Amino acid sequence: MHQFDVVIIGAGAAGLFCAGAAGQLGLKVLLLDHSDKVAEKIRISGGGRANFTNRDVSPANFLSDNPHFCRSALSRYTPRDFIGLMDRYGIAHHEKHKGQLFCSHSAQDLIDMLLRECDAGGVQRWQPCQVHRIRQIPFDSSGLPPNNDTSRRNDFLDSYEIDSDRGVISTSAIVIATGGLSIPKIGATDFGYRIAKQFDLRLVEPRPALVPLTFDGADWAPYAQLSGLALPVVIETGVKKAKTSFAEDLLFTHRGLSGPAVLQISSFWRENTPIKINLAPNVDLLPLLLRLKATSRKLVTNELATLVPSRLAEAWTLQDPTLQRAICDVPDKALVQLAQRLSNWELTPTGSEGYKKAEVTLGGIDTRDVSSQTMESKQAGLYLIGEVLDVTGWLGGYNFQWAWASGYACAQGLKARLTAQQSPINC
Ligand code: FDA
Repeated sequence: MHQFDVVIIGAGAAGLFCAGAAGQLGLKVLLLDHSDKVAEKIRISGGGRANFTNRDVSPANFLSDNPHFCRSALSRYTPRDFIGLMDRYGIAHHEKHKGQLFCSHSAQDLIDMLLRECDAGGVQRWQPCQVHRIRQIPFDSSGLPPNNDTSRRNDFLDSYEIDSDRGVISTSAIVIATGGLSIPKIGATDFGYRIAKQFDLRLVEPRPALVPLTFDGADWAPYAQLSGLALPVVIETGVKKAKTSFAEDLLFTHRGLSGPAVLQISSFWRENTPIKINLAPNVDLLPLLLRLKATSRKLVTNELATLVPSRLAEAWTLQDPTLQRAICDVPDKALVQLAQRLSNWELTPTGSEGYKKAEVTLGGIDTRDVSSQTMESKQAGLYLIGEVLDVTGWLGGYNFQWAWASGYACAQGLKARLTAQQSPINC
């Protein structure tokens, strides 16, 4: 039988980082993953350059049914800490947009760094390795080995057995770092949720997030030809206190809308509710249109093309015969309507592109069953980190920062647990 202080299941962002940290704290760590590739999501993230953190991270950048849960871990391992680690390895990085930090060369540099951190901690890594079953080894209610037999102290440390395709592994702690459901073709599974069920941990219904939204039907037909068009917008969804908005770029696609604006809002959008888009957020449209009416003899389409991309101006005016003429001949009422609709375009998505295109999973294992200090669940010795938990960041490097921060908190918690177990037992 193989024996480890901790077995971390999932060699993605959180698992790799936690493994290196725990190993360097003196724990005997096994990291395993069912895939033969390591950290595929890091490799494909940020267009191959991984938006690995954001300069400005706070709990407000995360969605969760338990919004304060992430606070402690985020404050104990900050973007500055991770940037410091990258700098120690000499990995070039740069800021692109709104505090988002990317590798300047390749996401592979970041993966190599995490692997070297694991090496420095003596981490054993088994890939590919399937986990078939996790068993808890029963002890009596005092938490001591059967019959209070302290000569079995070593057994007491080993409270789980894992059946894997490389044999049975014995360990006192297991970390689930198997991520969410997005992009199944590179290895995402519901493993974490199944383990949660096995140990009676609650689940917050998962759903795809940071995902393109889809539209169909006659209302969408005029825009279907705009695929590839991008423009800056302000987008919002929800009402009153639940209203959320983002100023980002919008991208028209074959099946609907994408781009950072839509990915951000998708995490807040719910089925059968509308989104609203201001397509010309940087101009006060109505006074401008009325001024143009007084001074210009050009077609509405041509004047509009100075305010929004010309393909959009064309698609928009084609839908309304009143607008297919010189702007000086358009009634004020039609210009009021045009300004109103362009700055408050309301449309209801028919759905999203789902997990095959989603960057993350909203929801996950309910953090009310997990310690925010150590990431240990109410099932002693079972820890959860990263995206498998109901903690979902905005677009912009927040999800990786959560992977690092939760992995770090977990490594500290594991060390404290091992130290407590190894201290003399007073009988
Ligand atoms: P992660 O998904 O990284 O790792 C989980 C690991 O568990 C995988 O290696 C998987 O193979 C393994 N696993 C799953 N089931 C298993 C099983 N049954 N047995 C064993 N192993 C199993 N975030 C960000 O901050 N900046 C960015 O630029 C991007 N960009 C981005 C692009 C794209 C296309 C996607 C899909 C996602 C992003 N993200 C992102 C999100 C980010 O990648 C994600 O939040 C983190 O990788 C989550 O880290 P985890 O370690 O929790 O899961």
